[in-house]
Amino acid sequence: MAKNGHSGVMSDATVPTMRPAFAPWLSRSNDVTSVFLAAGQVPDLVNLAGGLPEPSVWPVEELAGLAAEAIRNHPDETLGYGPIPGLPALRDLIAARFSAGALRLSRENVLITTGGMQALELMGKVLLQPGGLVAAQSPAYLGALDAWMPHAPRYRAMRIEANDFDPHAALAGAQFAYTVPNFSNPSGRLVALPERQALVAAAHATGTWLIEDDPYGALYYEGEPLPRLLDLSAAERPGPYDGPVVYMGSLSKELAPGLRIGWVIAAPEMIAALATAKQGSDMCSSGLSQMLALRALQAGMTDRIRPEVLSIYRARRDALCAAMRQHLSADLDWQVPVGGMFVWATARDPRLDTDRLLHHAMAQGVCISPSSVFDPEGLDRRSLRINFTLNPPERLEEGCRRLARAIRAALAEVG
Ligand SMILES: Cc1ncc(COP(=O)(O)O)c(C=O)c1O
Repeated sequence: MAKNGHSGVMSDATVPTMRPAFAPWLSRSNDVTSVFLAAGQVPDLVNLAGGLPEPSVWPVEELAGLAAEAIRNHPDETLGYGPIPGLPALRDLIAARFSAGALRLSRENVLITTGGMQALELMGKVLLQPGGLVAAQSPAYLGALDAWMPHAPRYRAMRIEANDFDPHAALAGAQFAYTVPNFSNPSGRLVALPERQALVAAAHATGTWLIEDDPYGALYYEGEPLPRLLDLSAAERPGPYDGPVVYMGSLSKELAPGLRIGWVIAAPEMIAALATAKQGSDMCSSGLSQMLALRALQAGMTDRIRPEVLSIYRARRDALCAAMRQHLSADLDWQVPVGGMFVWATARDPRLDTDRLLHHAMAQGVCISPSSVFDPEGLDRRSLRINFTLNPPERLEEGCRRLARAIRAALAEVG
């Protein structure tokens, strides 16, 4: 790149054309991203890196029927521009589904978004200024870090499970705090009830917005779901919801990610701000997708497919953990997650650098996510994230065999 910030490109006529430089944040992506981008082209790769659902659970015919019906009977809503905050009937349905106990919601508490990803991006747009502070559960979801990267925030790491974690000190002075209490991506960790209560109390005391990002809340393989931060917050201050929790839901893991339907539940003041930001982002989420989501939820589709989804994913989690015990227990430590899509494993040998391991793993035909991408500073090289929802048991075992070989090669490299 030229010193003046412009890149010089020679045209066919060898006359230099000066193009404006890309924004500086783009150059901050690392070489792990390029490995991921190339992974799709590698034949016979066992991809344990993504967070993808099993496609066979999608109710294809039923969704196709609903789509045809929605376009024929509701051409204005499905093919025209819609209201920025979302179809009123879908906002009402989300408000009604989540209203329980002390939590009282109305349409003004709900914004429909283009996936949960857009909700994260909009939060950055409405709250972050350069150098602003985000208190983020550590390790943190890569997509959230990506969404906020253009705003160049500072990060304060929250290790919520640590004995000395002080939620007040963590939230004080931050523009917002970011958590994934149910089966965090990447750690698979479930935030315990006392920790949830302490976070919510700190948000109320400090006034800091507290994001509860919850795409995995329906994927509990054991035990009863814990109360949401949103419910705990409503119990602190009864009445129409006006508290500090910003809840983000999504149909991606419960139904199908291609619908790109997510939602935010928050105080009306926050919903109005996010809607203003959404106007400059995409005007409105796809009307066809919103109508499909509405009809699917009304027909109880997510509740109907959930038992099958849970039984496939539970069996795959068990298969992965059994294969890890057989092939990887000498090299890695991990905890069996109670839900979600990931096992987070940490190298026993401090010399094992998981960024290097990724390159050896690709050479062996398996792809994993190294911990550096979930660290805003990119410094954590001790852990890796392994997905278990996309591959059947025999491929998961093959992936573990290959990973064991890759670990041997990576350790041989450092002597
Ligand atoms: C923690 C977390 N938040 C948000 C998202 C975004 O999901 P989507 O945009 O598909 O709703 C994901 C997707 O993997 C995720 O893991």
